[in-house]
Amino acid sequence: MPTDHLKVLVVAGARPNFMKVAPILRALEAAGHEGILVHTGQHYDAAMSDTFFRELGIKNPDYHLGVGTASHAVQTARIMEAFEPVLTKVHPQWLVVVGDVNSTMATALVASKLRTETHMHIAHVEAGLRSYDWRMPEEINRVITDRLADLLLTPSEDAAGNLLAEGIPEANICFVGNVMIDTLMTQLPIARATNTVEELGLRRRHYVAATLHRPSNVDDPEALAAVLQGLALVAESTAVVLPLHPRTLKNIERFHLGPMLTPLTVLEPLGYTEMLALTEGAECVLTDSGGIQEETTALGVPCVTLREQTERPITITEGTNHMAPWPLTPRGILSAYADSVAAVAQATPPRPAGWDGHASERIVKALEDKRPVKDYSAS
Ligand code: UD1
Repeated sequence: MPTDHLKVLVVAGARPNFMKVAPILRALEAAGHEGILVHTGQHYDAAMSDTFFRELGIKNPDYHLGVGTASHAVQTARIMEAFEPVLTKVHPQWLVVVGDVNSTMATALVASKLRTETHMHIAHVEAGLRSYDWRMPEEINRVITDRLADLLLTPSEDAAGNLLAEGIPEANICFVGNVMIDTLMTQLPIARATNTVEELGLRRRHYVAATLHRPSNVDDPEALAAVLQGLALVAESTAVVLPLHPRTLKNIERFHLGPMLTPLTVLEPLGYTEMLALTEGAECVLTDSGGIQEETTALGVPCVTLREQTERPITITEGTNHMAPWPLTPRGILSAYADSVAAVAQATPPRPAGWDGHASERIVKALEDKRPVKDYSAS
């Protein structure tokens, strides 16, 4: 084994993690390092997990923790309990965590407590994003993970300012760009070769794609009804396609809002390639997802974000994203849709720096350059 060989433990747990770990694992392998994959099992449905492994060519996880769904505390605790022995056994030089889900924070926390024994360091991919909304579980996960990480790999140039303002040393921050766009660029030719749009009976640029799963939008019956009503208003003039997240489906049933889906084309959760094809062909995307705000910016497709704020403001200043007026109302959603389409038709914004398909290579370079060589307490 060459002395510059790195042993890197990479964690994935929920749907938005899979498209981030795929290129990182590939880049590690290409550079001759060892990437070991842990799947926490936070997401477990075939449509939320297996499909992505297959489509993105991700190897089978070396360890599967099988934690499943529970309250935040129980899910986090289960991940921590199951992850600790894996980490101790594998004893990597780096733990790489991505994004902002419970699996990200829980595994970083376990590693941070084992640092002095293991001499291992933690890298956070997608560091420095902030919504400044403490009601979001993701914001809590982001802030804690960034505080624990030794290497903060930022996706856009604005993220460093957030970290510096929190007292993170500049030497620990490294701008690598957006690793999700690596996957988008690899998969785009495959998505374009599918007939996803036509098979759904749609015409390119003559439909709106929508996604909805944030607790703030779907866990409260009035909020959920307002968004569905907004989608129905949009559907009066153009088809609206809604692949339904399991959380949203459960709540629509629980709140007896099923009839509000009638004007919409409702689908099961889509795989990566189909969703990319649907997004690329859309006139506009209405979403409360974080990743889709970035994907629409990379594709130049108008996007309306159905949230009070975004932790990805670069998609507004250097992209195609527009915030729907808050609080969300059906009319507000309708007018934001019209405004975003008109704005992007006038001028296609440039793609942010580092969203070029090579972020994973820069991540590996950063791991190599800042390789942990000594006891954490002395570093
Ligand atoms: C999680 C992440 C969120 C991310 C989202 C993407 C946290 C705190 N939240 O939210 O940041 O944007 O993933 O999807 O980590 N369910 C299934 N099958 C599955 C997974 C979930 O049916 O494979 C159901 C669960 O039973 C539960 C609901 O979906 O009722 C929510 O799942 P959970 O993982 O708790 O959170 P998400 O809303 O998916």
